[in-house]
Amino acid sequence: MAGTSTSERGAWNSKLGFILAAAGSAVGLGNIWKFPFEVEAGGGAAFVLVYLIFCFILCFPVLITEIAIGRKTQKNAVGAFDSLGFSSWNFIGKLGILSGIIILSFYNVVAGWAFGFFVEMVTGNFQIGSQFSEFTVDIIKIGGYAILFLTTTAIIVSRGISAGIEKAAKILMPTLIIMIVGLLIYAFTLPYSGVGLKYYLIPEFSELNLQTIGGALRQAFFSLSLGMGALITYGSYLSKKENIVSSAALITLFDVGIAFIAGLMLFPIVAYSTGGDMTDVQGGAGLIFTVLPGVFESLGGTLGAIVGGGFFLLLSFAALTSTVSLLEVPVSYIVDEHKKSRKAAVIISAAVIFILGIPSLVGNGYSAFFTQFITYVGADAPTDVMTFLGHLADTFLLLGGLLIVSFTAFVWKKESLYEELSYGYVGFQTSKVKTFLNFAITILCPALLAILFVLVVLSNFFGISIIN
Ligand code: PFF
Repeated sequence: MAGTSTSERGAWNSKLGFILAAAGSAVGLGNIWKFPFEVEAGGGAAFVLVYLIFCFILCFPVLITEIAIGRKTQKNAVGAFDSLGFSSWNFIGKLGILSGIIILSFYNVVAGWAFGFFVEMVTGNFQIGSQFSEFTVDIIKIGGYAILFLTTTAIIVSRGISAGIEKAAKILMPTLIIMIVGLLIYAFTLPYSGVGLKYYLIPEFSELNLQTIGGALRQAFFSLSLGMGALITYGSYLSKKENIVSSAALITLFDVGIAFIAGLMLFPIVAYSTGGDMTDVQGGAGLIFTVLPGVFESLGGTLGAIVGGGFFLLLSFAALTSTVSLLEVPVSYIVDEHKKSRKAAVIISAAVIFILGIPSLVGNGYSAFFTQFITYVGADAPTDVMTFLGHLADTFLLLGGLLIVSFTAFVWKKESLYEELSYGYVGFQTSKVKTFLNFAITILCPALLAILFVLVVLSNFFGISIIN
């Protein structure tokens, strides 16, 4: 029996604290770094539409389910399944912990780059953008930033739920909103902003195919931090007074809203950098870490430092509330199941994660082996270890989500879920939400997630897209 009492485990101080922490987990590098270019690759507004449908129809029920399992059991991602009486299903939680460790191992490296760029921008070194490939092989420097980022994450998590994670979210999330709105207004004043917005917002339905649809689902899962027990863990600190359904809706809206605004902010800046020519836009790391610094430089010394520093601080803050939630998953498992103190659990987890992150740290040019780590079946060029781990984690998250809803619908039984959702939501049993959830968790999510999981595996690792 896991013997950690609720008071030792900690709890959220308020509903707002929980929502900000969970939204903080959701809003991260995925929203600001990845989303805009997934949109671009997937056909602009057409992709956004599919993404929104996935978020609200497929992910929202999984989000509710995860939070409910956590709150019902007040346990970590593994202990939750034991506590419900289905220990043979706790492998879902173990898979989740593994996914969390994999994600944090590379995510922390990129977060370290973002913080490093913040430092470079405020010290006026805009050339860093054109030297990005030199930056990523400067192992001492990027290793130092990665250690700094993981240590900051560890300090927040070691302070516990309300004094650490909740407090950090209450400071970081409002600051993040202010910064993103400030940058958005600034981006709108740039020449060619209309061209950038058109590129972002006009749907190109012809670019929508099963591969981009799979991409939208992957992005939705990653962005909402689903399928790995992060929300089981955060839900385990939530009071019975709170309404899980409305909290999950707010978290989804928050995440989708920030991703959308990030695109509104980025594309005008990109259009400005290309002089309005959107024919050959660079995505991913290249854009954020090379194109944008060039734009900030062109704004001139002080303004460039403010806008550029602001942008990379925004990225660092968004990443920090996510790394905190990623670390909390193994930490709460160790605290609950292995009866270690929170501090010891943080030190053990952070050390393992840092070591596992070394391949990603050196896999962007420094080590040829990790830079050309694997060649997928049918691919002409090798993939670096960080991208490979990203694909692996995406796949695990989808599998985790599929298993969590299927477990809830057919093993734990949906009536038990509905009973949990009734706490804090008077009238749930007769609500339309219940009718929708019933359909979603028994039919829609298991069926679609199973199909899309196969699709994502095929396209991620074997380059096979069913329809082109
Ligand atoms: N949602 C985060 C992002 O979009 O950057 C990443 C993430 C955090 C994934 C926490 C999973 C997780 F549990």
